[in-house]
Amino acid sequence: MTEASRLQSALAASEARLRRVQRIGQVGGFEIDLSSGINLRSAEYMAVQGLPAAAVHEAHAHWVARLHPEDRDRAERRFLEAISEASGALDYAQEYRIVTPDGGVRWISARAEIERDAEGRALRMVGAHHDITALRETQAELERLNQALEQRVRDEVEKREAAQARAAHAERMRALGQLASGIAHDMNNLLQSVQSGAAIIARAPDQPDQVAAVAEALLQAADRGTAVTSRLLSFARQAELRAEPVDPASLLTQLAEMLRHSLGRRYACQVEPCAQLPPLLADRRQLETALLNLAINARDAMPGGGLISLSAAAERVAGAHPAGLAPGAYIRLGVRDDGMGMDAETLARVTEPFFTTKPAEQGTGLGLSMAKGFAEQSGGGLALESEPGEGTLVTLWLPAAG
Ligand SMILES: Nc1ncnc2c1ncn2[C@@H]1O[C@H](COP(=O)(O)OP(=O)(O)O)[C@@H](O)[C@H]1O
Ligand SMILES: [Mg+2]
Repeated sequence: MTEASRLQSALAASEARLRRVQRIGQVGGFEIDLSSGINLRSAEYMAVQGLPAAAVHEAHAHWVARLHPEDRDRAERRFLEAISEASGALDYAQEYRIVTPDGGVRWISARAEIERDAEGRALRMVGAHHDITALRETQAELERLNQALEQRVRDEVEKREAAQARAAHAERMRALGQLASGIAHDMNNLLQSVQSGAAIIARAPDQPDQVAAVAEALLQAADRGTAVTSRLLSFARQAELRAEPVDPASLLTQLAEMLRHSLGRRYACQVEPCAQLPPLLADRRQLETALLNLAINARDAMPGGGLISLSAAAERVAGAHPAGLAPGAYIRLGVRDDGMGMDAETLARVTEPFFTTKPAEQGTGLGLSMAKGFAEQSGGGLALESEPGEGTLVTLWLPAAG
């Protein structure tokens, strides 16, 4: 064999290897002579695009015609920009779809180098085409799966929020129910003073001073009645759960007002001084329900009557906290009674759902577990301190707003 023919067959073998690698990798080579506009395509390039291998020379327009109509303008613009003198680019890369002669659509990733002369004019582009259809389809499928998953999560969250809102409302109505007899009693007292006042006026309608004084008392009684019913109505109204800034002082004052009207004469309710505190962040209605439950527990712990004390204070948590609070600013709400208290064994179990020491018609065992769940969901916590015979303090932490 001559030197020339040995070189010839080595070259042929090397070209065959290159073609094989191109076929396996689904990579087609191309070379564009930008002065003549003649494009040279490798066999694999033609195969990827579903074209007969014979057409290895073609014009730029053939490529443009193959582009998917939705990608055509963008892809051609990108190509022309890359080879423009102004861009001076030495690299070219883009992805687009082509339509094969049998109507199939394939995704192509094209990358190339641009050769330029000394003046910066683009002379040649040498590059490779890679068929990335499978990759794109997998990506699209993943995207679809992702969206379906996200939708399902959204649906679940929505369902859960609706269930929570229903449970919160039911809990609120139950707490109100526990106060119903006290409220009825309060209203009865008001109606009785209205009755006796009216009787006085009926007996002595000709004494203007007395009539005026009684009428004034009647107006006051009616005002009190209106205040109680409107408070009850707004309390019972169903609303969506939403955290909002709540002023601790006005929250506790209104709660105390409502308790005074509903717990009965043997109970006193005081709010310890707590003006000037920053607002806390929580769903106001759920917070009211939780506090109302704590107050009802306090009442139940003092069957003979007693004092319920409401308090609020600011607290900054820096390190580890016994109630498991994360570092940050909190408002600490307290409900204290001087009732029967609890032993350590009871205390350890009171926040378990359905744990109760009360007769079935009086206790569900849900008050404390729901109050704790609410506090934790709001980013706070709940803790109890109690000794038998020494009363109980329940503390509720909620994040300070802002
Ligand atoms: N202030 C309190 N004083 C004494 N015991 C209390 C107090 N609060 C709660 N408990 C105890 O915790 C238990 C659970 O309370 P709770 O979850 O509100 O359910 P329920 O009030 O329906 O029993 C009560 O049954 C009672 O034994
Ligand atoms: Mg309770």
